[in-house]
Amino acid sequence: MSRATRHQLQPQTDHDGLSRQLAVLACKQAIRGSLEQQLTRDYEQRVRPALAKEPDCAADMEHEVRALNSYKLWSCANRASQNRMWQVLAEQIDNDYDRITQVADEVSANAPGSLDLDETLQAPDYQFAANIHGQPGGYMLNRAEHDLAAGILYEAGGNLFALGQGIGKTDSKAQRVLQYVAEQHPDLKPRRILDLGCSAGGQSTDYPAAFPDAEVHAVDLAPAMLRFARARAAALGSPVHFRQADAASTGFDAGSFDLIVSHNLFHETAAEHMPAIIQECHRLLAPGGVCIHQDVPIQLDRLEPFAQFISAWQHDNNDEAHWLDFAAADLPAMLVEAGFPADSVSSDYLQAVDGPIPWYVAVASKPADKATSSAR
Ligand SMILES: C[S@@+](CC[C@H](N)C(=O)[O-])C[C@H]1O[C@@H](n2cnc3c(N)ncnc32)[C@H](O)[C@@H]1O
Repeated sequence: MSRATRHQLQPQTDHDGLSRQLAVLACKQAIRGSLEQQLTRDYEQRVRPALAKEPDCAADMEHEVRALNSYKLWSCANRASQNRMWQVLAEQIDNDYDRITQVADEVSANAPGSLDLDETLQAPDYQFAANIHGQPGGYMLNRAEHDLAAGILYEAGGNLFALGQGIGKTDSKAQRVLQYVAEQHPDLKPRRILDLGCSAGGQSTDYPAAFPDAEVHAVDLAPAMLRFARARAAALGSPVHFRQADAASTGFDAGSFDLIVSHNLFHETAAEHMPAIIQECHRLLAPGGVCIHQDVPIQLDRLEPFAQFISAWQHDNNDEAHWLDFAAADLPAMLVEAGFPADSVSSDYLQAVDGPIPWYVAVASKPADKATSSAR
């Protein structure tokens, strides 16, 4: 599946609504195109030669770049396009909301898979620190007992945002991870798979399609994301079991999964919570099991100082409260610290299925015990 996957729960709109979406997209493409090119030229030609020393990090040029008119235009347009995107989509979702909820009920009744919400769950404080990337109400928006809005918004906004970033329609983070599994772990035949931080379930549903004999589970903290994810999976005929839980404390039995994945979870997680999630992966994996954490390619040690500055905009202006935590995080070190053998731990940049960007992955596996490896 991909960003081009269509299903009945996506908001339907008319010609005018579509035009408004296309206007947002054109604006985002111009920001990423000509506005960013002008900003980069100004940095190279005007700021960098005037710096007292070769910059080591974003802070070494921040003051000078912020003073550029091309930066002010790029930054304002970026924020305005993001606000407009959510406004346009929220209106369209409001207009189509009754139909979507009715279809959600119809498709979910008797569909394979399940939804297990936990009203008593205390989400960690960081989850409320911001309305991440400006999404109205944030991930935890939950207006009523059956609310779906957070999930509908997340999927629609994520698709439009990604197109504006130059990510292609046939991109799928899960497909890229599945390709990696096929290349690097061809013998892995997972009986149970877990997707951590699944949001609207956009990646979770790829796993039953790739491993039809596996039982696929997915967790998130956000109830309205999960309700939507369950209905979306049902609409697509995908038997995923969704559970409201903290990825650091899922409640599943130790050793009960053979493949654990996360997609863009860690850049939405506070630094102090990351090791606990990694430790939970170690607890949950069976011998021979593999965990693969895919995320955005913003690792500070891989980015030039000016690229670090551009990346930090997400934190400073797009409500990405944990972006810089993730940019500085060392997931491979956390995996080793959690007990994975150092020689099983790696990290890499993998070219996206469709589009110019790579995805970051951090990977680890648990040694197979003899009985397990002969049974596989
Ligand atoms: C960027 S979204 C993930 C998108 C989704 N995996 C995908 O690729 O389509 C991050 C999600 O992580 C969830 N999240 C953050 N911290 C979490 C935690 N400790 N446990 C479970 N979910 C968490 C948020 O609620 C949010 O839905």
